[in-house]
Amino acid sequence: MERGKFIVFEGVGGSGKTTQIKHAKEYLQEKGIRLLVTREPGGVESAEKIRELIFNLKEKNLIGPEGQVALFFAARKLWLDEVVTPNISEGVSILTDRSHTSTAAYQGYAEGGDMNQIIEISKVVMDEHLPDAVILLDVNAQCAIQRKSKEQKDNDPFDKEGIEYMQKLVNAYREMARDNWGGLDWFVVDGEVSVKQVSQEISRILDKIFEK
Ligand code: TYD
Repeated sequence: MERGKFIVFEGVGGSGKTTQIKHAKEYLQEKGIRLLVTREPGGVESAEKIRELIFNLKEKNLIGPEGQVALFFAARKLWLDEVVTPNISEGVSILTDRSHTSTAAYQGYAEGGDMNQIIEISKVVMDEHLPDAVILLDVNAQCAIQRKSKEQKDNDPFDKEGIEYMQKLVNAYREMARDNWGGLDWFVVDGEVSVKQVSQEISRILDKIFEK
């Protein structure tokens, strides 16, 4: 059986991932492609618990980049084993909101963690299950912060960091896409144009990914 595709949506909070993943799902389902939408950190009960733990510790300033890396990868391994690997082998494609690429951007670049360690641990945990593509929604730091401030409820401590942190993240993602970080296929989409324009660009990218 042909393997499903493993596609990651990346970008800072407020880049529009949620809206665009919904669009991507509808677009691919109309073409008869079997798929599953999931998110990181979480996606399965055990990993959702780790997500809560990370958020609590970060909120209270009790965890630095190394601890965060360890916990994010622990959650990721549970998610890979339970959700990603079995589905892909059954021919079901995965669209995920974030993956190990987020750990590189957040814990590596923004939190100042050791990038070589993140690369090494990625090799161990991701094993042969590397994403087929990463779609980066690129927005500038001001735009992301403005969009986030309009949200009613946001209990994500990573979103409460200031403009400097956000700027580091935006730069990190741009650099990672430029360098094909992790040996991955990156596609950059301008996330500041209209929702419809972003969707159209994503449809084009998805066509490319699925024609391979
Ligand atoms: P999420 O709900 O995905 O946020 P968003 O709506 O902004 O995408 O929450 C995940 C948060 O955790 C997000 O702020 C980024 C952070 N994160 C990391 O710092 N490292 C990681 O490896 C992952 C997967 C997420």
